[in-house]
Amino acid sequence: MSETVQKELEALFEKCDSCKGCKLSETKTNTVFGTGNIQAKVMFVGEAPGEQEDLQGEPFVGASGKLLDKYLAVIDMPRESVYIANILKCRPPHNRDPLPEEEDACIEFLRKQLQLINPKIIVCLGRIAAKRLIKPDFKITAEHGKWFEKGKYLMCAVYHPSALLRDLSKRTEMLSDMFEIKKRADEIQ
Ligand code: URA
Repeated sequence: MSETVQKELEALFEKCDSCKGCKLSETKTNTVFGTGNIQAKVMFVGEAPGEQEDLQGEPFVGASGKLLDKYLAVIDMPRESVYIANILKCRPPHNRDPLPEEEDACIEFLRKQLQLINPKIIVCLGRIAAKRLIKPDFKITAEHGKWFEKGKYLMCAVYHPSALLRDLSKRTEMLSDMFEIKKRADEIQ
């Protein structure tokens, strides 16, 4: 079963890597498809690759990724146990916000990743992912840590790690949101 999933994800990566659905394919260095446990119960979804991710081809490997790793370690949910991906698979120049047409062109890849990996919990990292996956009027300051049931998924959003790098005062709330994610994940078989 997981061999089939692995093969289908590899085929999806090939499609994604050669995608010309938006202009970001012209400026990217690497496609940042997603990494982690393909049988993960919990999938984290960020916004788009930054500079380091673009250079290395992996999500959340720069400064914000290092901070994310620390939170994952604290709740005893190592990076290798979860799957991590982004809404966009190619880096927007100068890390600007994704354009709606870029999200539209890319979202099918994430949908297919979700179908294949079939997590129980989806955690949106930041406002952009929460608006796209939970609801368009999502307010990260007011609604981080709240839980939503959407189809077969249990979903929540937490602050984007880059927001936590800029504003240390958000870190206490992040910690309690992350512990709740761990608790809910442990409750699910
Ligand atoms: N920010 C994101 O949203 N995703 C990454 O992969 C890196 C930084």
